[in-house]
Amino acid sequence: MERKRVLVTGGAGFLGSHLCDRLIKEGYHVMAMDNLITGNLENIEHLFKLEQFEFYHHDVSKFVHVPGKLDYILHFASPASPIDYLKIPIQTLKVGSLGTHNLLGLAMAKGARMLIASTSEVYGDPLVHPQTEDYWGNVNPVGPRGCYDEAKRFQEAMTMAYHMHHGLETRIVRIFNTYGPRMRLDDGRVLPAFLSQALRGEPLSIFGDGSQTRSFCYVDDLVEGIYRLLLSDYHLPVNIGNPSEITIKEFAEEICKLTGVELNIEYQPLPTDDPQKRQPDISLAREVLGWEPQVDRAEGLRRTLEYFKEKVQVPAEKANA
Ligand SMILES: NC(=O)c1ccc[n+]([C@@H]2O[C@H](COP(=O)([O-])OP(=O)(O)OC[C@H]3O[C@@H](n4cnc5c(N)ncnc54)[C@H](O)[C@@H]3O)[C@@H](O)[C@H]2O)c1
Repeated sequence: MERKRVLVTGGAGFLGSHLCDRLIKEGYHVMAMDNLITGNLENIEHLFKLEQFEFYHHDVSKFVHVPGKLDYILHFASPASPIDYLKIPIQTLKVGSLGTHNLLGLAMAKGARMLIASTSEVYGDPLVHPQTEDYWGNVNPVGPRGCYDEAKRFQEAMTMAYHMHHGLETRIVRIFNTYGPRMRLDDGRVLPAFLSQALRGEPLSIFGDGSQTRSFCYVDDLVEGIYRLLLSDYHLPVNIGNPSEITIKEFAEEICKLTGVELNIEYQPLPTDDPQKRQPDISLAREVLGWEPQVDRAEGLRRTLEYFKEKVQVPAEKANA
């Protein structure tokens, strides 16, 4: 039987590369497209030898074309961590707006179903807790995070317009903080920062007093949720994340316990518009996808630590201590 063909934008990134792995495993022909602005070919180099895998080095904010038939598009290209999108705010706005528009056009031309990677950031600093999909959010459009949050909100609106106006098959996943192997050590997010600092024997940086909460979803759980959504017949946004909530201070303690180092914290000022609380309500995902996370934080962190141990450079005096 002929393989179904899928285009994954942002395929050399953290989540995109895990999606490529899963789709290859499910028997798809996978085309990864990436301009490598924050991604890394190392994440997908094991796939290059497969004939059912192709890579296109391309910026999706420019016109996008791929040869042959196409069944699905998963649009994951976008800088994703604050440190990245603060450095490249215009590219971030462009990939969420122009990039999404280009890919919706491609989906129309090929008769493909399109799934977009949205984010919990569409809820901004939420006034509703936990966040349900029908909450409209509390976003500051002109603050430093506005370039990302508003690009994603525009992306959702554009995708819904194509669905309603052109009848295009679309899916929208609102992703909450996800972690796992292939995260960039220096992407500025709390989990890689804490793990790298603990492994290097440095103090853990906490922004603010550490009472703000986050919830972390292991990457395999996220990929399972996205795959189910892709194949479902549900076109409205669905939260995918792990509702298990923890304060940043407690999380620092967990990381120190896991890595066997003494708790040593350096407090720094809270960045502007940093959300105080983040926790997905996943009732909808349970109902329409029969999905919920399977990997608890202890297990997910153990698996992630293995990856970080290979990547983090430990200063010689600490390694020999
Ligand atoms: N990781 C998370 O916790 C999380 C949470 C919410 C949403 N998301 C969304 O998931 C997607 C992937 O995030 P990630 O964590 O894997 O980030 P990432 O930075 O690891 O991956 C993004 C990839 O997109 C590529 N890219 C960026 N702009 C591009 C462009 N114009 N053309 C082609 N490629 C481009 C980058 O080079 C990179 O490989 C993003 O859309 C992000 O907004 C991620």
